[in-house]
Amino acid sequence: MYDLLKLLHLIAAIVWMGGMTFMLIALRPATLAVMEAQPRAVLMAAVWQRFFVAVLIAIVVLLATGGYMFGGSMKAAREATGHGVVPLGWTVMTALGGLMFLIFGHIYFAGFAKFRRAVAAAQWPVAAKAAGQIHLLVVTNFVLGWAAIAAVKLLA
Ligand code: HEM
Repeated sequence: MYDLLKLLHLIAAIVWMGGMTFMLIALRPATLAVMEAQPRAVLMAAVWQRFFVAVLIAIVVLLATGGYMFGGSMKAAREATGHGVVPLGWTVMTALGGLMFLIFGHIYFAGFAKFRRAVAAAQWPVAAKAAGQIHLLVVTNFVLGWAAIAAVKLLA
């Protein structure tokens, strides 16, 4: 059971981190290089609409599986030794993961909502500003995600 949850956790992390990697190193620079601003904004609205739903699902899976692994292991440690101690890397992952979820909430419910409204209303400067904010927050989550993974793998 634990191994299955860990596999689901890993799959959700790969979907989210892989999607951000593709967006940042391929999709964004390529569309900036070959597309005009307006069709690019329309394309990004359609791309983000799909990718962000996948991220929402990944977050539910990461939270449920991560919470179960963290909570279950702490309980088992408390029962065995009297102390509910887990590796430092797990605590760092939980803290950084929580921060990533909050930042994504801001991306989706604030930045993307604004971007979509601006594209629908053909307010291109507003859309460009919202897209810039989304980009900065995605870069932040990209860095935090790798830091969380490094922490869980490297910190005892
Ligand atoms: C509340 C948020 C989170 C919690 C509570 C959590 C909890 C955990 C725990 C307890 C483990 C260790 C499992 C073990 O070694 O037996 C783990 C591993 C891992 N987590 Fe998280 N996590 C969270 C968020 C994230 C996020 C946001 C990502 C990346 C996007 C992520 C990616 C991973 C990866 C790649 C592993 C390593 C799996 C392996 O060893 O193969 N986690 N997580």
